[in-house]
Amino acid sequence: MKRPVARITGTGGYLPERRMDNHELSKRVETSDAWIRERTGIIERRIAAPGEMTSDLALQASRRALEMAGLTVNDLDMILVGTISPDLLFPSVATLLLRKLGGTRFIPAFDLQAACTGFLYGLSVGESFIASGQCRRVLVCGAETFSRVVDWRDRSTCVLFGDGAGAVVLEAVEGTEDGRGLLSTHIHADGVSADLLKASGGVSAGPPSDRGPEMDGIGYVLMQGNEVYKQAVTVMGRLVDETLAANGLEKSQVDWLVPHQANIRIIQGIAKRLGMGMDRVVVTVERHGNTSAASVPLALDEAVRDGRIQPGQLVLMEAFGAGFTWGSALMRW
Ligand code: UT7
Repeated sequence: MKRPVARITGTGGYLPERRMDNHELSKRVETSDAWIRERTGIIERRIAAPGEMTSDLALQASRRALEMAGLTVNDLDMILVGTISPDLLFPSVATLLLRKLGGTRFIPAFDLQAACTGFLYGLSVGESFIASGQCRRVLVCGAETFSRVVDWRDRSTCVLFGDGAGAVVLEAVEGTEDGRGLLSTHIHADGVSADLLKASGGVSAGPPSDRGPEMDGIGYVLMQGNEVYKQAVTVMGRLVDETLAANGLEKSQVDWLVPHQANIRIIQGIAKRLGMGMDRVVVTVERHGNTSAASVPLALDEAVRDGRIQPGQLVLMEAFGAGFTWGSALMRW
């Protein structure tokens, strides 16, 4: 019997209302609009309101994705959330999301911690559950309030990130003569480069009662940007080749690249390797900054809703993040 194929039947995105542009940042730290634009392509990013949690952003994006798919929460068989900025250490954002969506079936719901690759990890896990026949409908979300993890005194990181959420509904389809659906997903990690990009804290910081002033700085994101940059370009290039080779497809056959939005220069590098003009690359980094696990589903949602991505087109999604982790998905839309 043929395995069911997973198809994305709904997408949704949500950005907090508050915009923070480079000029505002240059009043906080020693930086400039010109530096940020030239080195990253970012012009502004969104910042969650006080009390607006990652699960709240995930809720808005998920509602939109469910609406597009014509489903309700009780039609779902699983909820997956990629995030590194959960509301709480536990329980997971996915369980909070299940409650906020009003779900009354006891479906599995869990977070995936793969940093900026969290959404691609979620797609891969969701696809596997669908292909094995265990689930028919899976909600996959990437959601972050990264503004709560950055050190607003550190100009080398605070200018890069933003808050937001994106979600997709994956559904099982049988007998896909048109070949539409997820063709393959590819996820990886090395684990050896953890110190190049991390947020310390968690339980290694000890119980909160034992934390003295020497712990100032714990919990914030730390990054050796230029090292991460070099590795991101190399690894993503390899990943693109791996993904196309697995499907026997050529670079020229890709209609849309939906990349992780960390830096416009990295995105341009990957587009060049694919021989693609930037008119076939979905770019949101200038308005969103790096929203970590939310960046790919947010970009996908924009390009689906504004009609750029059309049925039958070949869409390549990819991401790279702390760990290092990296992942891709190829989909016939
Ligand atoms: O999403 C997960 C994966 N993350 C990424 O893919 C991020 C990858 N890295 C990058 O995108 C880039 O490395 C950055 C945008 C983070 C930095 O760009 P860069 O061209 O690699 O700059 P750099 O870190 O080598 O710093 C160059 C200079 C330094 O000054 P000196 O030492 O040359 O005097 C920095 O201190 O720029 C300085 N600098 C800044 N200047 C103004 C660093 N941050 C800033 C700033 N404003 N915000």
